[in-house]
Amino acid sequence: MKIVIINGPNLNLLGKREPDIYGSLTFETYFDQLKEKYPKIELEYFQSNIEGEIIDKLHEAGFSFDGILLNAAAYTHTSVGIGDAIKSIQTPVVEVHISNVYQREEFRHQSFISPNASGIIVGFGLKGYELALLSFLKD
Ligand code: DQA
Repeated sequence: MKIVIINGPNLNLLGKREPDIYGSLTFETYFDQLKEKYPKIELEYFQSNIEGEIIDKLHEAGFSFDGILLNAAAYTHTSVGIGDAIKSIQTPVVEVHISNVYQREEFRHQSFISPNASGIIVGFGLKGYELALLSFLKD
């Protein structure tokens, strides 16, 4: 089983960025823990602050991976291009947000990802990535 986690802009600063909202763990540390916990899953991690690179990664993984966990961060609320990319690929995409975007500013309530995602996990902190991962495992 091949799964890729794709993180969007500013998520490279997890651990330092607004820790009251996003926690104090770096994503690299969390990702290492996840790989250790699920050694049988081929887990890949990709982060970019550039919209086109996220689209390129969706195209690359979207015909060969079993699942994509996507936190498009701020692009969630603005990117028609990322929404269209999800529509264009075969691999199911689970949308993940660390914070509960529905408790936050109104502009965060709009998502170009949600209508095209196979599921959505919102507001459970970094654990949301694990919950999304579990959705791809057979019972
Ligand atoms: C986020 C929520 C977005 O609104 C924000 O722009 C982010 C992170 C989250 O994981 O909670 O950068 O996607």
